[in-house]
Amino acid sequence: MSYDPSKEGAQMSFQGRMSYGDYLGLDKILTAQHPLSQAHDELLFIVQHQTSELWMRLALHEMNAARDRIEAGDLQPAFKMLARVARIMEQLNSAWDVLRTMTPSEYTEFRESLGQSSGFQSYQYRMIEFVAGNRNMAMLGPHQHRTELAAPLLAEVERPSLYDTVTGRLRAAGFDVPAREKLDEPHHPDPKARAAWAEVYRDPRRYWELYELAEKLVDFEDYFRRWRFNHVTTVERIIGFKRGSGGTSGVNYLRKMLDVVLFPDLWELRTEL
Ligand code: HEM
Repeated sequence: MSYDPSKEGAQMSFQGRMSYGDYLGLDKILTAQHPLSQAHDELLFIVQHQTSELWMRLALHEMNAARDRIEAGDLQPAFKMLARVARIMEQLNSAWDVLRTMTPSEYTEFRESLGQSSGFQSYQYRMIEFVAGNRNMAMLGPHQHRTELAAPLLAEVERPSLYDTVTGRLRAAGFDVPAREKLDEPHHPDPKARAAWAEVYRDPRRYWELYELAEKLVDFEDYFRRWRFNHVTTVERIIGFKRGSGGTSGVNYLRKMLDVVLFPDLWELRTEL
């Protein structure tokens, strides 16, 4: 006789009850893959993007909550959330290994089906950048035709970024670091903030929470840079120096993005120590 889990209590009948698939909305998720070609590898390409978007959804949830906690001066829960965000980025980084199994010949089979769509138009990726503080208003373009996406991005640049709330903690600790007036820009290096961070790093024991907070942001940016690097390397491996489907110069554009610094004060202070 084969083993029957119902004998030890496994629920086997879900007529009128919520099951695993109902709770997780799997009917929607697992029927949301619509390859537009006959190419075998197009499903990999779609699933890879969709899973990345799901992880980004969680990253945003954690980043927003961490920002609220930091603003409230409740740093311990924020540390835990930011550690989780770094782990999510690591997950996204490992995912490139799956996509790298696709060769240029295989990608070419369905490249035309994508039309002009590209990760460049990822709303959640742009939101992650905006929440962290890399606010480039030119990036709103691809979302202008959908107010339900453009409006939250516009609302985001009116509120302090994650890094702005972190410099708020410097102020609360008595450091002379003025709040930014223009919030719809990336973070530029600020000598006063850098000097404050240098003091924190010179005496970590005295400023342990601020020190830990700064390191959490550096961790975040470190993993984010690895994601960008993995992306550009995978892209070069698959399309070489061809233009991107989104219309940019492709690898050259992505290499330029490697130079973007999210939290310049936190990187510059290191030279000073
Ligand atoms: C065959 C695989 C891939 C290729 C060839 C590729 C190619 C490119 C290229 C060329 C760009 C520059 C914009 C453009 O002109 O299109 C870009 C941007 C982007 N891609 Fe990919 N990509 C791939 C996979 C992915 C995956 C799996 C994700 C995960 C969500 C992703 C997310 C992004 C994002 C967020 C951007 C915008 C980056 C920025 O503006 O800084 N890409 N991609």
